[in-house]
Amino acid sequence: MKELYVLMLSLHGLIRGNDLELGCDADTGGQVLYVVELTRALARQRQVGKVDLLTRRIEDSTVSPDYARPEEALGDNARIIRLHCGPRRYLRKESLWPYLDQLVDRALLFLREQKRLPDVIHSHYADAGYVGMQLSQLLGIPQIHTGHSLGRSKQQRLLAQGRKPQALERQFSFYRRIATEEAILQHASLIITSTPQESAEQYGLYTSYQPERAVVIPPGTDISRFAPPSRQMPPDPEAASLIDRFLVHPRKPLVLAICRPEMRKNLSALVAAFGSSPALHEKANLAIIAGNREDIRKLEAAQTEVMTNLLLDIDCYDLWGKVALPKHHKPANIAGFYRLAAQRRGIFVNPALTEPFGLTLIEAAASGLPVVATEDGGPRDIVANCKNGVLVDPLDAHAIAGAIEYALADPARWRQWARNGIAGVKNHYTWDAHVKKYLHVLLRLLHHERKQIRRTMAIYQRPQRHPLPLISHMLITDIDNTLLGDRAALRRFLAILRATPPNLGFGVATGRTLESALKILKEWSVPLPDVLITSVGSEINYGRELRPDIGWQNFIKYLWRRDAIQDALRDVPGLTLQAEENQREFKLSYNVDPEKLPVISRIRALLREKKLSAHLIYSRQSYLDILPLRASKGRAIRYLAYKWGLPLRAFLVAGDSGNDQEMLIGDTLGVIVANHSPELAMLRGNEQIYFARASYADGIAEGMAHYEFGTSIMENVNDSPI
Ligand code: GLC
Ligand code: MG
Repeated sequence: MKELYVLMLSLHGLIRGNDLELGCDADTGGQVLYVVELTRALARQRQVGKVDLLTRRIEDSTVSPDYARPEEALGDNARIIRLHCGPRRYLRKESLWPYLDQLVDRALLFLREQKRLPDVIHSHYADAGYVGMQLSQLLGIPQIHTGHSLGRSKQQRLLAQGRKPQALERQFSFYRRIATEEAILQHASLIITSTPQESAEQYGLYTSYQPERAVVIPPGTDISRFAPPSRQMPPDPEAASLIDRFLVHPRKPLVLAICRPEMRKNLSALVAAFGSSPALHEKANLAIIAGNREDIRKLEAAQTEVMTNLLLDIDCYDLWGKVALPKHHKPANIAGFYRLAAQRRGIFVNPALTEPFGLTLIEAAASGLPVVATEDGGPRDIVANCKNGVLVDPLDAHAIAGAIEYALADPARWRQWARNGIAGVKNHYTWDAHVKKYLHVLLRLLHHERKQIRRTMAIYQRPQRHPLPLISHMLITDIDNTLLGDRAALRRFLAILRATPPNLGFGVATGRTLESALKILKEWSVPLPDVLITSVGSEINYGRELRPDIGWQNFIKYLWRRDAIQDALRDVPGLTLQAEENQREFKLSYNVDPEKLPVISRIRALLREKKLSAHLIYSRQSYLDILPLRASKGRAIRYLAYKWGLPLRAFLVAGDSGNDQEMLIGDTLGVIVANHSPELAMLRGNEQIYFARASYADGIAEGMAHYEFGTSIMENVNDSPI
């Protein structure tokens, strides 16, 4: 099998290869680390040929110039690619939403410059998830998504704190975020979560969540700093002196806790457990590493309360000389604390009331220090994977004391747990372990997708075609009275089309709806086009899965007020609404009685007076289509050109009537069939519009020959842009 190419997408905070600058978006620092480490570890695997981590380029004097570098290597096969999107300055994640469609387009252009398309797109967090979903739909590449944190849980948490819904909406754009998350969960082939609890409690809040598509793969941990004590690596003497100055008998087994002084961490239960157990008084010491402080009274109120109670409890149980509570330590001492406790045959305790992950437990395990941990999501997995200790009910101080006594009671069991922990971390919690599991599910997914594609390919009639980003030229034709109308001409045209090179794409642009276009093409045995522009350019769909172009929908909905327009036109003489099936979200269509209808400019003026914006298209003296300002067949083609990185000259466009006019004029190569309707006669004499002598599909073929369309491309196949 060929080596995998993985495209990572993450727009969060500031992404840089060498180190982290978390100041701008502190709550997402962990995610940045995650994405960079995952990218690195993935690129180290032999099945993986290339990993690109795509993110936003930032030029802002308040952050490092590194974030303005378009490209940065992350080892041999991996790099960070930075693309502009929206303003150049740093933007917090909640402000990125309006610029994401632009990033989709930039990403397509970037992919066009690569030698091949990615095998999979892995997005992180809702914003990149949106971009990834678009790319996945446009390119037919499966999407993997990691949410990291979810809008619904955050919204609920903030509402529970009594925050006002409107204010939250203004600050966090929850509406957009949650709707996007639902759509991603619906679309993505695979969701990666860190713990079963995250799957159940956070993703479980979403209606589109499908548990069978989710896998739990705990994040890797950079445990290079954490190793068991050895002759080469004795405990850090500084760590020992920080603790031992509190203790009367420092050699006793050390019961260690490391956490921030927060209510949730439940340190008071640990002190109560230790304090009320005569056995522990006798046999062990307790060390609590709870952050740094100058004056407890000057901490945040909640921390002051936790620390004060801790001191009162220590006094109450008279633990003086048996408990260490260092006032200061350096981050570098942490590994030393674990090793010291391991060397003294102690135990690590995490008694938190809730613990979604529990990084300290993994650090302790890696240091050869067994654990007693709260019976909750993260610890449950860690202890199940590592078999290096016991779980307890954090509300039951007696149970905590009992568990610690048990853990310290049997030296053989203690040694087994210490060994299990070290091995368990290697097998489950390093980035390489993470990536091995990741690749396993990824390969299974790709295998499955490939089978499915092969199955759909069987009914797809032009299997040798390139996917869109590898297409260099595009033939786009109207359906009624251009492509269809003369069966013999169509047969001749399709024979020519089949002989064109695979880098020539084939599309239709029609006033019909998608369903009706598909139906009539099938009736006339026309192969499924690569692109379908339907409903007079208000909808674009691609390929055999008919993937909708959501970027286009977002682009055209600007100033569109369908109901108000319909109201405004209610009394215009000569207009009757077309049948319901011709009405679309972005297309309001009327049948016209040309005798009674006022001139179109009058209708335009009427809408203008009512401050309504729309695009009016009059065809065959029978139809009036009202579209959003930005929509038409012509604009849809320009959008395609921009999006897929093709010059307009690479489009040959054929049509016969008024709704084709916009796509025929300008830089495209235009062809008008001989049987055209009178409204197109005025285009005669226009540069780059060819009036064919032949009618219907014969006219298209004549136009192709005129521009040497199929044949000139044939010669260029080898130096096409890919
Ligand atoms: C097709 C559509 C109709 C539209 C007309 C002109 O006939 O069905 O809704 O008005 O094209 O664009
Ligand atoms: Mg037509």
